[in-house]
Amino acid sequence: MIRTIREVMSFLRSLACKIFGCGSAQNTAGSPGQASDGEPHVAQEEKKVETQSDDEFVFPKDFVWGTGTSSYQVEGAWNVDGKGESIWDRFSHTPGKVKNGDTGDVACDHYNRFAEDILLAKRLNLNSYRFSIAWPRLQPNGRGEFNQHGLDFYDRIVDACLQNGITPFITLYHWDLPQALEDEGGWGNREVCELFAAYAAKCVERYGDRVKHWTTFNEPWCTSFLGYENGYHAPGKKDPKLAAQVAHNLLLAHGMAAQAMRKVAKEPIEVGIVLNLSITEPFHADDPEDVKLAEAAWRRDCGAYLDPLYRGTYPADHAAKIGDLRDGDLKIINQKLDFLGINFYSRGIACKTDLPYPIPGSSYTAMGWEVSPWALRGLLIRIYNEYGHPKLYVTENGASYDDVINGETVADTKRLDYIREHVRQVALTIKSGVPIQGYFAWSLMDNFEWAEGYSRRFGIVYVDFETQKRTVKDSGHWFANAAKQNRVSLKT
Ligand code: FCB
Repeated sequence: MIRTIREVMSFLRSLACKIFGCGSAQNTAGSPGQASDGEPHVAQEEKKVETQSDDEFVFPKDFVWGTGTSSYQVEGAWNVDGKGESIWDRFSHTPGKVKNGDTGDVACDHYNRFAEDILLAKRLNLNSYRFSIAWPRLQPNGRGEFNQHGLDFYDRIVDACLQNGITPFITLYHWDLPQALEDEGGWGNREVCELFAAYAAKCVERYGDRVKHWTTFNEPWCTSFLGYENGYHAPGKKDPKLAAQVAHNLLLAHGMAAQAMRKVAKEPIEVGIVLNLSITEPFHADDPEDVKLAEAAWRRDCGAYLDPLYRGTYPADHAAKIGDLRDGDLKIINQKLDFLGINFYSRGIACKTDLPYPIPGSSYTAMGWEVSPWALRGLLIRIYNEYGHPKLYVTENGASYDDVINGETVADTKRLDYIREHVRQVALTIKSGVPIQGYFAWSLMDNFEWAEGYSRRFGIVYVDFETQKRTVKDSGHWFANAAKQNRVSLKT
């Protein structure tokens, strides 16, 4: 029993970093994804990628260098030009839900400034832009009529990207469900899955002539756990049973959408999903109990998503939690995935006793998340080996620190180090034979960080929220240079 509680605690620590922050320790040899010499396993049959020297790594020619944003976090214009209310509008307008009473009503004013922002991405030498479509901007009530202004807005974003040589990566759902659908039960209601598939198909009909890369969902774990289990995110429900159903329905909606999108696509499209995944390491690498707990955490946390998506099965204990799991559901979920996006911020840690926090020797971001870049490599390699060599992107990675702007300069050394070290780990991953397709820094610019409001800055570009002035931070300059050179130093 005690162990079960500790396991749950470890799970919460590792995956709900947004709330609790992550515990940390030094790199632990023998942890999941690692061989006994401390090096992550690589599939035998993969060829080593040649690099020009031991000191630097040149990325493949078509490597994707991007940044990400999401509609609610940057657009503002929450009730403009026919946009419907989203669950995040409702949530942030409810007193006490978001730090300092912040809302996304204006955010980065990207609705009006997207052209300037995309130009900025170009100036940073980026070749891709990951953004999301606000479902209620396109379809105010989530069903029926589409809103012409909304459709036109994303046309303009797509076109601005293409005119600047930037490949658009569209996410169809980054957490802003039409409130009207939440009023009908939200993601707990299976009908919403069908409505999502219809909306996804409409987006492909509209933009599929120009957009090849499509993500159905961003981080379904956050939607189900943070939105429906602990209430930290919109819609703020606290119902574990419902949350388990929501997690299933999101995957079902993903499968239905993938089918619907492929049916209407006139040009070849790639359909993927973005998951927040982490690798859990044993706190004491030489303690068999910690090692066992770490392995169990991997199966539970990653298996709950990757098994149904790639194998059409659920871990048995996970399936038991889903109230309404119908024959045929897993077949729908198990659609071909053209790519998998991985959002990585910090590792998880398994420990049979309570973890000290902070752990001596570890460093943490302003979110309280442990800086553990090596774990990204272990994670990528393990996913690649265990799930049949999927095409992988790092779709989010970045750090929040308390920035100080000084004239035209933001000397964000810690963020620069964080990003540089993670990009280095991606380079090492590719070097060892796992062909990672791209890396998207989170985020292009400071924005509305959900329940933390504007108190947490993740951008590689600083935003003055009074004036909407953008200033490239030192991390942005470093990233722009790496993208331009298409290479990084491997030296620490
Ligand atoms: C991820 C979200 C993204 C942002 C980062 C910091 O979980 O996908 O919108 O909030 O965390």
